[in-house]
Amino acid sequence: NFTPNAFVEEMVAELKEKVKDDKVVLGLSGGVDSTVAAVLLHQAIGKNLYCIFVNNGLLRKNEFQSVLDQYKGMGLNVKGVDSGDRFLSELAGVSDPETKRKIIGRVFIEVFDDESHLIEDVKWLAQGTIYPDVIESVSVKGPSATIKSHHNVGGLPDYMKLKIVEPLRMLFKDEVRRVGATLGIDPELLGRHPFPGPGLSIRILGDITPEKVQILQDVDKVFIDGLKSWGLYDKVWQAGAILLPVNSVGVMGDERTYEKVVALRAVESTDGMTADWVHLPYDFLMKVSNDIINKVKGVNRVVYDISSKPPATIEWE
Ligand code: XMP
Repeated sequence: NFTPNAFVEEMVAELKEKVKDDKVVLGLSGGVDSTVAAVLLHQAIGKNLYCIFVNNGLLRKNEFQSVLDQYKGMGLNVKGVDSGDRFLSELAGVSDPETKRKIIGRVFIEVFDDESHLIEDVKWLAQGTIYPDVIESVSVKGPSATIKSHHNVGGLPDYMKLKIVEPLRMLFKDEVRRVGATLGIDPELLGRHPFPGPGLSIRILGDITPEKVQILQDVDKVFIDGLKSWGLYDKVWQAGAILLPVNSVGVMGDERTYEKVVALRAVESTDGMTADWVHLPYDFLMKVSNDIINKVKGVNRVVYDISSKPPATIEWE
């Protein structure tokens, strides 16, 4: 029987004991897990926590600046590092999903390593790893080869020489949210859908270009804003859009078009290990589909994903 108050009290004491007066660096992602980990550590060690928020160029539209502002408002010591161009140029021409993840993981570590070397005498790396991350990254290491490598698990190369601290390692997502509420974190931030570390890269099937990122950011924004304004956002565990490597024929006025297809995905789940597609209202799907096609240049068809996990996965890559 999990009690968030007791967890916070014990974990803050444990972190103080473990880290003492050392400096800790933590990578914020904008998500619930890393934010809750940061606020917990901030309670325990205050100004000795140094947060870094990297823009990999694959976040949701406008998210880098808005989340950075939100963190500053929470009193966290956070540095925003805008490396979008670097990630996108390293990803140019790459279509294979696992290669995308590996490149993003590697570049993230390079950026993060450079940044943490700027912090004098830092001893610890804190991560927002939660229990399902631990399980999935262990279970995919079977003889049947990797299903998906989750780049935010498994630590860092030795050269960083940092000790690892993962205060949420034993918690499920709903428990992390309850801990966050106890810590006084904004309910809107705590209610955010999970978002993968490799970001939109694994929702752009095939190779990634800045133009495709922009199209998908615009589509995603129409979809997510729509879910919010229809009061559906909080009924869904995770939602997003996928840009397919397919053009389809359409008609606009008197003109034949030959443009991109996007898929919308919304799932119910408790921990992401299994998931069911959500029966979104037809009226909502109709409105969002019209808005996407009318507002986002380059898209002329919208489909809705009705697969559950298993046998499908939540992401398409
Ligand atoms: P799948 O697609 O495996 O997704 O059913 C389960 C949950 O994990 C997220 N996901 C990832 N998160 N790095 C992450 O940090 C990744 O490479 C990654 N792949 C999938 C996915 O968004 C869903 O919440």
